[in-house]
Amino acid sequence: MEYQEIMERKRKITSTPVHPLPEETVNKIIKEFTQSHMKSKQLYDEALTCLTEGVQHNLSPNFPFPLAMDRGEGYKLWDIDGNEYIDYLMCGAPIILGHHFKPLDEKIAEHIRTKGPTTGLTSEYEILAAKQIKKMMPNIEKVRFVQSGSEAIMAALRIARANTGHEKIIKIEGNYHGWGDQTVIGLHIPGTGMMMSEGIPTECLSNTLTVMPNDFDGLRNTFEDAKKQGNVAACLVEANGGEAGTHPVHPDWNKYVRELCDEFGALMIMDEVITGFRIAKGGAQEYYGIKPDIVTLGKVLMHGYPSCGAVAGRAEVMDSLAGGEGSAAGSHAFVAGTLAANALSTMASYYALKFVEEYNAVDKAAAYAEKLTKELNDLFEARPDLPFFAYNQKSIIIYDTTAFFSVDINQPDAFMQIMNRMKVAKEYQLALTSKGVMNLAGSRMYTCMQHDENALTKTLETWEYLLSLIPKN
Ligand SMILES: Cc1ncc(COP(=O)(O)O)c(C=O)c1O
Repeated sequence: MEYQEIMERKRKITSTPVHPLPEETVNKIIKEFTQSHMKSKQLYDEALTCLTEGVQHNLSPNFPFPLAMDRGEGYKLWDIDGNEYIDYLMCGAPIILGHHFKPLDEKIAEHIRTKGPTTGLTSEYEILAAKQIKKMMPNIEKVRFVQSGSEAIMAALRIARANTGHEKIIKIEGNYHGWGDQTVIGLHIPGTGMMMSEGIPTECLSNTLTVMPNDFDGLRNTFEDAKKQGNVAACLVEANGGEAGTHPVHPDWNKYVRELCDEFGALMIMDEVITGFRIAKGGAQEYYGIKPDIVTLGKVLMHGYPSCGAVAGRAEVMDSLAGGEGSAAGSHAFVAGTLAANALSTMASYYALKFVEEYNAVDKAAAYAEKLTKELNDLFEARPDLPFFAYNQKSIIIYDTTAFFSVDINQPDAFMQIMNRMKVAKEYQLALTSKGVMNLAGSRMYTCMQHDENALTKTLETWEYLLSLIPKN
């Protein structure tokens, strides 16, 4: 689906009332769900005594309570009550080969059995993984492993400042770049400012300039204005649009960002934490044909194994990083991490990326997503009273039912709108989860190379069930 059509369809949803499930339907689902997920409920009650809010992961569906998982295999998950799910959360995007992918897991298990997890010093896997990344992303010359996507962003900003001597960074509203102090502004929904987090001193954001998505004039004006305040070090983008494409980019947007970065002596940071090795083997750089100066990586990079993150880019830019004992002094940018680049993580990275190539995982996962998106839209079309629709970029599917991410923040009742639309989307999500389909944030589905015809049939049946619960207008 093209950009203009997506935007029009989103506007249509946000400008018309939502279609809630009847209260008695929701109550019935909650009752049955609680009965069939008792162990998760009990674990959650216990977790409330020792974990903040009883749950840690920011992608955990919490309504009516978070589910505790037992295991994953291929495209399936099982919770501790034994309920089975067709998984489209995919760990929040890292999994593209399928859960518990044996050729990968066996390499890791064997390493732990014979050599232990890590030594704190260099292993050959750092070099093998870095070479594999370079092979798949030919724009990249040097790689530095860190411990998360959020850390990769923090490192990228430091590298950009060290290279340019400039201080300001430009962040696009609605783009997500982890939880670092300098980028937690306008998260999820463009224009929401610092609403998502307390505890960030305003000075931390004093060098962060924000621009609304696809605001071409706003972007130029921000670069111009920054000339008076120390200039722009970097413009940071989720190249496929904020929230993994929930806020799609205009077809000319990335090219324009690149041009303005060049014109104003800034670096372009492409956040490929989600898109890397998923939207194309070579990531969004390949998909859009744009050469960023710095790239941040995570997720598929280590395929579910921890300490997952890397910052990478052109050699002359990356060489501003310090490395090794004592080299932090001088004109280098300092980046560190006790477990960064440990043998297990980099081994996971090397083999995961090799398998992504060998099994043609990107194309297989994308082919399934194409099919599912089309079939979902066919289902939605059979309900012309509902404005629902889905679109995909390769193996990332976005579906809009209440479009809560797209509420115009300038409307007087914007906050109420967002809350109400989120509530209805959560109830839809519960209905789907209760029948064994696990999505992300009531609006997104990631696919892996193992999703098959059985998964497709079951997923469509489950969506049909949800649609049948929504009263006809
Ligand atoms: C585009 C993007 N950048 C950065 C991050 C942060 O990565 P991490 O959760 O590994 O810190 C995320 C996480 O979802 C992301 O989606």
